[in-house]
Order: sequence, then C-alpha cells, then structure tokens
Amino acid sequence: GIKIVTIGGGSSYTPELMEGFIKRYPELPVREIWLVDVENGKEKVEIDAKMAKRMWKKAGYDVQIYTTMDRKKALQDADFVTTQFRVGFLEARIKDERIPLSYGMLGQETNGAGGIFKAFRTIPVILEIVKDMKEVCPNAWLINFTNPSGMVTEAVIRYGHWDKVIGLCNVPVIAMMKEPEAIKKSPQDLIYQFVGINHFHWHKVYDRNGKELTQNVIDALFEGKDIGLPANITNVPFFKEQIEQMQMIPCGYHRYYYRQEEMLAHSLEEYETLGTRGQQVKQTEERLFSLYKDPELDYKPDELSMRGGAYYSDAACECINSIYNDKKTHMVVSTKNRGAIPELPEDCVVEVSSIITGKGAMPIAWGKLPSAQRGWIQCMKAMEECTIEAAVTGNYGLALEAFALNPLIPAGQSAKNVLDELLIAHENYLPQF
Ligand code: NAD
Ligand code: G6P
Ligand code: MN
Repeated sequence: GIKIVTIGGGSSYTPELMEGFIKRYPELPVREIWLVDVENGKEKVEIDAKMAKRMWKKAGYDVQIYTTMDRKKALQDADFVTTQFRVGFLEARIKDERIPLSYGMLGQETNGAGGIFKAFRTIPVILEIVKDMKEVCPNAWLINFTNPSGMVTEAVIRYGHWDKVIGLCNVPVIAMMKEPEAIKKSPQDLIYQFVGINHFHWHKVYDRNGKELTQNVIDALFEGKDIGLPANITNVPFFKEQIEQMQMIPCGYHRYYYRQEEMLAHSLEEYETLGTRGQQVKQTEERLFSLYKDPELDYKPDELSMRGGAYYSDAACECINSIYNDKKTHMVVSTKNRGAIPELPEDCVVEVSSIITGKGAMPIAWGKLPSAQRGWIQCMKAMEECTIEAAVTGNYGLALEAFALNPLIPAGQSAKNVLDELLIAHENYLPQF
C-alpha cells in the first residue's frame, strides 16, 4: 500500500483531496494518509481528520488517517508527499493583499508584491521539508500545491537539489473541464497544449484531426460563456482584438497584466466593501469547518466550490495516480523546462503540457513564442528567478530587483516603501532577511 503525507493537512481543501483518493482507490491503493500541520492548525487538522475518516468509512476502504505536528516522523518512508501549507496563515495573506493596495498597487495572493512575499515566506520552509525528505524518504515524490506553486517548485529543484517534484495548479484543470462544453464538444475530442509559467500561461485547442479550435474558445469567451475562470478572479473582459491577434487563450490571471488598471480599480473598490479576498476566504473557511464538524457529514460539501482551488484533487490525485501506474497521461504541470520553451533557461521551471509517467513529468516542446508572449515570459521568469534567489539568500538589493521587474509594481520610492513595510509586517516568517 501507498503512504501519503500531506503537509498543511489542516487545509479546508483536505476533504477534496480525500474524495480524489477515494475515487481512484481501485487503481491507487492508499494504505495510510498522514496529515501534518503546526500547533496553530491543530484544531483544523483534527476536524479534517475526523471528516476524512468518515469519508473513507463510507467508501468502505480500510485506510488509516493520522495527524501529527511532527513532520519528520510523518515523512518516514513516505511514497508521496503533497504540500498545501500556508506560512503565516490567512493573516499573512491579508497583509500581502492590504499593504500593496494601501499604496495603490495590486495586492494579490500570487501576483505582484504579495506573491513575491508569499515566496519569501514559503521557500525557506519547503527547503526544510526537502532536507527532511532526503533523510527519511529519499525515494518519495513531492507533489507541490503550495503557492506560488511555480516558484516553490523551482526552489526545490534549484536550491533543494531535489528533482522528484511536480508543481500543480487547478487553473488548467478547470479550463480543460469547462471549455469543451462551451464549444459544444466533449473533453475526449479535444487536444490541448499549454505553455507558460504558473498563473501566467496560454493555450491552444485542437480537435482529433488536428483542426485548430482556439478561435471557437475565444468566441465562447467573448460570448460570456463559462470557460473556467477560478472563483477568486474578477471577470474583467480581455480586449478582443488583442486575444484574436494572439490566437492563444490566456489564463484567468492574465487579467492582472492585460487589464491592470481595471483590476486594480476593482480590487480597491472590493477592499472598501467586502474586504480583500483573504478576508472573504476567512469567512468561507469558518463556514466550511462548521460543516466539517458535523458528525453526520461524510462527503465534500458543495460550499467548497466557493474557493478558487476547486477541483484541486483532480490535479493532485491524478498526478500521483499517473506516476504510480505510469499512465502517461497529459497534464499541465510545473516542471523543469528542458527546452520546452527555448527562450527560457533549460533548468528553470515552466508550467506546460506534459506526459506524466513513472519517471515523472516529461514536458512537451512548444517551440518558438511570438514576440509579445516571449517578452512577457522572459520578464516574468527573470522576476521569479530574482524572487527565488532573494528568498534563499535574503539579499535586499535582489528583492528590490524583483520588485522593479514585476509589472504590477511601479518602480520608484513607493516600491521600496512597500518592500520595507512588508518586510516588517512579515518579520516573524522571514528568518533569511
Ligand atoms: P490554509 O490557510 O488553510 O493553510 C493550510 C494549512 O497549512 C493550515 O492548516 C495551516 O495551519 C498549515 N500550516 C501553516 N504553516 C505550516 C507549516 N510551516 N507547516 C505545515 N503546515 C503549516 O491554506 P489553504 O487556503 O488551504 O491553501 C493552502 C496552500 O495551497 C496555500 O499556499 C495556497 O496558496 C495553496 N493553493 C494552491 C492552489 C494552486 O492552484 N496551486 C489552489 C489553492 C490553494
Ligand atoms: C486558484 C488558484 C490558486 C489560488 C486560489 C485562490 O485560482 O489556482 O493557486 O491561490 O485559487 O483561491 P482562494 O479561494 O483561496 O482565494
Ligand atoms: Mn494555482
């Protein structure tokens, strides 16, 4: 049987993960699941564990669920380690959102200054996890979901020197789930190719004869059809002429870049009325845990779809299934580039269509990108590289470089002030600075 260890087990997404493993049990014989959390998350992880036990019992499978605050003990002989932790908890996310907004800059979980600081807090922890894994489960696969997922995955490879890692995101999953219906096709009739980096990718779609259907999806998008925008992103429309020229479908997060002005205006307005997304998520989370506490509840409640990470388990569990059974399935994952995007370094992490095999993800080459996409991706990757290196070294000047490169941070004195304020706000989680 397989031993799974989930770091950040107290997440409200845990029932989703259980559902994914239950669905796949006949192919993927899980023996035990260890939910690891920290002292602060103890109450949540215990609620999740009880809920998980009810779900497994209902399914009729004999799987053991453990909770612990002792990460190294849990990791002993693990086969797959999944990560879904949030360093600094939702309070830290709210600071990442609020502080840039207070300077008139976008405040978002994985984009702009907030995304950079989430990397600063998370990377030292993921490198500690890798260190533990080298000692007690050197053959395990690390399936990272922790954001910023692409940068965290790159840090694991480049600075943790650990190659058995795959970074995941639900955004491509939702797109491939919703688009077929929007263009009146069934999923098995479509062939997808994605190119880019986490939360900054584009894709094209074809039918089984190789006929391109990208324009059909673009039409559906501008007709207002649901093509899979995650719940956390406001639907500001793209410019039609731009997307039609591009002949690629941008991910939902591109709105922050292509319509920066409008997204910022909307965020500021929402901040005044509903609070930041993190503040709203706090309420959703409270509701979810009060549902999970119900000793009668033994299935994933619909309310979980209010979270942006819906269908996350389809990515995580299918990825594990594909590795375990060498299924050679197509998935969009964060993995080492190896030439798939020739304009980016060979050894950086990209989020592209890949074949998932027993030896991990094998990226599918995209080839040359048009000038606009090449320019964006090179700038964004350089920004990520500076961010990751600054997260490891604590180099203040390099942090400033990352800020200056980030298209959502206007460079100047305010950028430096935001950096300084965030460094103080998060100082308990930034031992490297
Ligand atoms: P959350 O706030 O519920 O945190 C999950 C758990 O992590 C909590 O129980 C918390 O106590 C625990 N935790 C905090 N620090 C820890 C540490 N050092 N070690 C172990 N556990 C720790 O977060 P969430 O909303 O469930 O999201 C979890 C993570 O997954 C975040 O990083 C989030 O950005 C990410 N996420 C990723 C995607 C994606 O597409 N890749 C989608 C949704 C969420
Ligand atoms: C998805 C993304 C995640 C993101 C999350 C936010 O869009 O793929 O990476 O962080 O949703 O969801 P939330 O409900 O926490 O705002
Ligand atoms: Mn994501």
